[in-house]
Amino acid sequence: MKSLVVYDSMFGNTEKIANEIGRYLGRETKVLSVGKVNKDDIGKLDLLVVGSPTHGGRPTDVITKFINTIPRNLKVVFFDTRFEKSEQGFGLKILLSVIGFATEKMERQFGILGGKVFTESMGFIVTDKEGPIKKGEMERLKNWVEKIRSKLKVLMVK
Ligand SMILES: Cc1cc2nc3c(=O)[nH]c(=O)nc-3n(C[C@H](O)[C@H](O)[C@H](O)COP(=O)(O)O)c2cc1C
Repeated sequence: MKSLVVYDSMFGNTEKIANEIGRYLGRETKVLSVGKVNKDDIGKLDLLVVGSPTHGGRPTDVITKFINTIPRNLKVVFFDTRFEKSEQGFGLKILLSVIGFATEKMERQFGILGGKVFTESMGFIVTDKEGPIKKGEMERLKNWVEKIRSKLKVLMVK
């Protein structure tokens, strides 16, 4: 199963998540910062995972640009890092509800381009702007990757 995990990260949290996803996806997985991706890297892939921190309710500009280059027929899954809405004070809670998170925007953008998201996106919680990643998120990550792997395996056997 050849996969690639592409990420952007300002403080290293999304990078950490990307590396863990890569580890659970298995040996044939590459993990690359979005600035290091070449066209050849997204050639013959079974799965592409794209992750971004949430900035102002959306993915970063470089990730938005990268999504425009993804072949529409690829199996693509998105993730983001974000604040936990329920843990915030009243004002920020309302703001986060209104502006949403990066995965929604990435899914919508890829959809408008004609792509179809392979399976549910995931948001991973950071406890502050610079992290750290909330306790328990790595367990959730492992379960999410397991689901993706099972779905891929079923398709590849067919
Ligand atoms: C400029 C800026 C804007 C942000 N806006 C949001 C936001 O709208 N919603 C949110 O949940 N988190 C927001 N955050 C917090 C980021 O989610 C957090 O910094 C990020 O997940 C950390 O990932 P990184 O270490 O990979 O950069 C923002 C952070 C920065 C620096």
